[in-house]
Amino acid sequence: MESTLPVVVDAAEKPKEPLDYQKVYNAIAAIIEDENYDDGSYGPVFLRLAWHASGTYDINAKDGGSNFATMRFKPEAGHGANAGLGIARERLNRVKDQFPEISYGDLWTLAGVAAIQELGGPIVKWRAGRIDGEESHSPPDGRLPDAARPDGQHSRDIFYKMGFNDQEIVALLGAHALGRCHKDRSGFDGPWTASPTVFTNAFYTELLGRKWVERKWNGPKQFEDKESKSLMMLPADMAMAKDKEFRKWVEIYAKDSDKFFEDFAKAVQKLFELGVKFEDNAKVYEFKPTNA
Ligand code: HEM
Repeated sequence: MESTLPVVVDAAEKPKEPLDYQKVYNAIAAIIEDENYDDGSYGPVFLRLAWHASGTYDINAKDGGSNFATMRFKPEAGHGANAGLGIARERLNRVKDQFPEISYGDLWTLAGVAAIQELGGPIVKWRAGRIDGEESHSPPDGRLPDAARPDGQHSRDIFYKMGFNDQEIVALLGAHALGRCHKDRSGFDGPWTASPTVFTNAFYTELLGRKWVERKWNGPKQFEDKESKSLMMLPADMAMAKDKEFRKWVEIYAKDSDKFFEDFAKAVQKLFELGVKFEDNAKVYEFKPTNA
C-alpha cells in the first residue's frame, strides 16, 4: 500500500549549491605569498605541480594527464621529476579542507591558473571536471622531459606525445621566468631570471640577451650567465636557442610580450586539460585576479 505520509525533506539532503570556483581561486591566491618560503612565493611550485600532474598525458595510449590526480599515490609522487612537489600538494590541502568537494585534479590545475594570474601573467581559461582516480590509473615514469638533455629532439619527443607543436613547446617554456631550481629537488641550482615571482617574457630576453657559459661546479651540467653568474639555464632550455625552429619562436616572444601572453594562455589551458573528459556544457571560467 502506498504511504500517504507527507515527505519531509531534510535540509541536509537538499541538492548542494555548485562550488563557487572564484572563491576557491581566492583561497589559493591567499596562500601563495609567504616571505619565509624560497623567493617569497609558492606560485612557481604550484605551477610546476599543475604542469607535472598534466604533462604525463600520452596521446597514443590516451592515458595520464590531470584527470585522476595520481600524484597523490606513492609511485608517481616518487618519480624523480616530482621531487619537491609534495610541498605544493601539502600546502594546497589547506584549500582542500575549506572546499572538500573539489577534486584534487581540479584543485591542482586551478592552483596553476592562480599562480600564473596572481604573479602577473595572462588570464587562463579553466574548466572543472577532473575526478579523483585510483592508484591503478598512475602513468609510468619517464613521460616528463629530462632537463639534462641538450637536444631539441628530446623535447619534441616528449611534448609531441602530449599533442603539442614546436610553437606551443617554446611558449610553455616561458614559464621558466618563474621560480628556480633547487639542489635538493632536481640537483640543478638557481633562478632563470632576476624576478622569479613575476610572470614576464624574461625567459626569452635573458636566453637571447646574455652570454651563457657552462658552470664549473660540483653538480649536473648547467649554464650560468657570464656577467653576473646569478642566473641559470638548463641544457634543455639552451636547446630552445640552438634549434632553428624553436629559436624562431624564442625571438618572437622576446620581442612581443603580448603575443607570448596570448600564446602561453592557450597552450597552458590545453596542458591543464590533457586527459580530461569534460561535460559538453562545462562552464569556461575566467577568474578575477585578487590584486586586479
Ligand atoms: C623541456 C621542458 C622542461 C624541463 C626540462 C623542465 C625542467 C625543470 C627543472 C629541472 C626545474 C627545477 C625543479 C627544482 O629543482 O625545483 C623546473 C622548475 C620549474 N618549471 Fe620546468 N621544465 C620544463 C618545462 C616546464 C613547463 C612546460 C612549465 C610550465 C608550463 C614549467 C614550469 C616550471 C616552474 C614554474 C618551475 C619553478 C618551480 C619552483 O620554483 O619551485 N617547466 N623545471
